Amino acid sequence: MSLDLMAGRAAELFARCFGHPPRWLVAAPGRVNLIGEHTDYNDGFVLPMAIERHIIIAADTNTRRQVTLHSVTTGETATFSLRPKVERGEPGWSNYVRGVIAGFPQPRNKSAGFDAVIESTLPYGGGLASSAALEVATATLLETMTGQTLDPIEKALLCQRAEHDFAGVPCGIMDQFTSILARENHALLLDCRSRTTTPVAMTDPTVTVLIINTNIRHKLAESEYAKRRSQCEAAARVLKVPALRDATPELLEAARGQMEPVVFRRARHVISENERTVQAAQAIQASDWAKVGQLMYASHTSLREDYEVSCPELDTVVEIAHAMGAAGGMIGCRMTGGGFGGCAVSLVKTEAVQRTTRKLDELYEQKTGRQPAIFSSRPAAGVRILRS
Ligand code: GLA
Repeated sequence: MSLDLMAGRAAELFARCFGHPPRWLVAAPGRVNLIGEHTDYNDGFVLPMAIERHIIIAADTNTRRQVTLHSVTTGETATFSLRPKVERGEPGWSNYVRGVIAGFPQPRNKSAGFDAVIESTLPYGGGLASSAALEVATATLLETMTGQTLDPIEKALLCQRAEHDFAGVPCGIMDQFTSILARENHALLLDCRSRTTTPVAMTDPTVTVLIINTNIRHKLAESEYAKRRSQCEAAARVLKVPALRDATPELLEAARGQMEPVVFRRARHVISENERTVQAAQAIQASDWAKVGQLMYASHTSLREDYEVSCPELDTVVEIAHAMGAAGGMIGCRMTGGGFGGCAVSLVKTEAVQRTTRKLDELYEQKTGRQPAIFSSRPAAGVRILRS
């Protein structure tokens, strides 16, 4: 569904819920990461792009100093007070909004409450950064409401803090950055240490980005994420580097005997993934798609074997894609995002989109007994204010 249609729907629903049209409408995109997985919290490189799927918030102030949020996706309503301060609470998704309000610079906390309807075309919990999109949409709404403009990096960090402190997930910065800073028709090579971004044009009409949602979310995702993060920190301590970004394959190899095998493998993934990510950005710039494809498959293998964040369903998608090969129109494929379910991303030849989609759909269902959801997306722009 187009963004305009969605925004119209959110506005209508707002009017139905609250008796008058919304004053503000904002839309923040989700993201798909082309390569550079689990590198962001190691000060490394990532190469995501925003997708044409959004969280939309329709809102207006109220006079009650409280916030009422209605989520179309879950059908739930959250109501909470701004005084004396915003606290964590139920339902779980409201914490992304609560956390951003709590961290937003004054005078937001002194001002009025608001009513909002939250609409989404992003699969909830599908690994396409729906939570970051909700945080970024909220921060942008608060900017509009208070007439302030935050520095984009400060804004991304504020959203990340909301996720750490209110949702309890020690995520990196990739998702929030992408939802704010993404550019249409570009992927972003983000250096997570210097926080600088290099736009990488994705304008070759012969190549299409396809996203395959396994429609699986394994429970382990959050606890295992935190575990991976601390294993990386442990490896960096042994290697005596500030972060795994600073380590080389040689340095790691020399320290093999000083760390547990599992920690060694985690570090090997991160160090090699950083190299692949920088190489992939160069290969895209050179339209060397065969190379990009190889790097994507290698990334998946490393995530499956060394980092152990894949799952049978994601592996099945990548195996099907790999078997199709270049002759079948498939350039490359890998899991994307945190892992343990969610989505795979693939690059396919545009003339083969229908064929590859049909095949992925059929074979995935045959092998797993589940239906995937498959869609393509152009690289989209970052968060937008649709009505102010
Ligand atoms: C999640 C996190 C990101 C990043 C990815 C893995 O999406 O929110 O910060 O760590 O996992 O690359």
